[in-house]
Amino acid sequence: MTDPAARRILVLLASTRADGNAELMARASVAALPAATEVRWQRLAELDMPPFEDIRHSVGQYPAPTGDLARLLDDTLWATDLLVASPLYWYSLPAPLKLYLDHWSAFMRVPGLDFKARMAGKAMHVLCATSSGDEPHLAAPLVDSLRFSAGYMKMRWGGAVLGDGTRPGDVLKDEAALAAAAKLLLA
Ligand SMILES: Cc1cc2nc3c(=O)[nH]c(=O)nc-3n(C[C@H](O)[C@H](O)[C@H](O)COP(=O)(O)O)c2cc1C
Repeated sequence: MTDPAARRILVLLASTRADGNAELMARASVAALPAATEVRWQRLAELDMPPFEDIRHSVGQYPAPTGDLARLLDDTLWATDLLVASPLYWYSLPAPLKLYLDHWSAFMRVPGLDFKARMAGKAMHVLCATSSGDEPHLAAPLVDSLRFSAGYMKMRWGGAVLGDGTRPGDVLKDEAALAAAAKLLLA
C-alpha cells in the first residue's frame, strides 16, 4: 500500500443535502484511514460553480477559474485520490457532480495548466447511496460514467461501493456497505 503520509484524499460530497447517506459512507471510509493521511472535503452543492459552456471549438481555450471553482481545482490537483460520495439521482449523477466533471473539459483547456497530464495516475474511488440497494445494476450509469471518465483521464479506478438507503441515516443499517466503504481507500 502507498505510504499513508504520501496520500492526500479529496472527498467530493455530491448530495444536495448535508449528513445524508453518501456522506455517512464517506465518513466510514475516512475513519478507516491511517491518522497521517491528509483529507480535504468539498461539498459540491454549496459551491458557486458557474454554468459550463462549450467554447472548445470557438474560443478554443478557457480562462483560469476563479472563486470556488479555483479552490475546487486546487484541491483536485492537490489530491492523490478522489473519493466521490454521491447519491444516485435518476440512475445517474446529481447535477453538482455532473457540473464539476463538465468543468474538467474546461480545465483541460486552460493554457499552462496541464490538467489532463496532472490527473493521470491519481485514483478515483466511488461511494453511491441508492434507494435500490438490492438492484445494483440500476446504479451502473453513475458508476460507469465515473469509471469511464477516470479511464479517459488515465486515473486509476479504485472501485465503487453501493449503500442502501432512502432517508438520511438509513445506510447505517447496511452493514456490508459500511464495511466495504471502510476498506475502499485501503486497497
Ligand atoms: C432527485 C432524486 C432522484 C433520485 N433518483 C433515484 C434513482 O434513480 N434510484 C434510486 O435508487 N434512488 C434515487 N433517489 C434516492 C436517493 O438516491 C437516496 O435517497 C439516497 O440515499 C440519497 O443519498 P443522500 O442521503 O446522500 O443524499 C433519488 C433521490 C432524489 C432526491
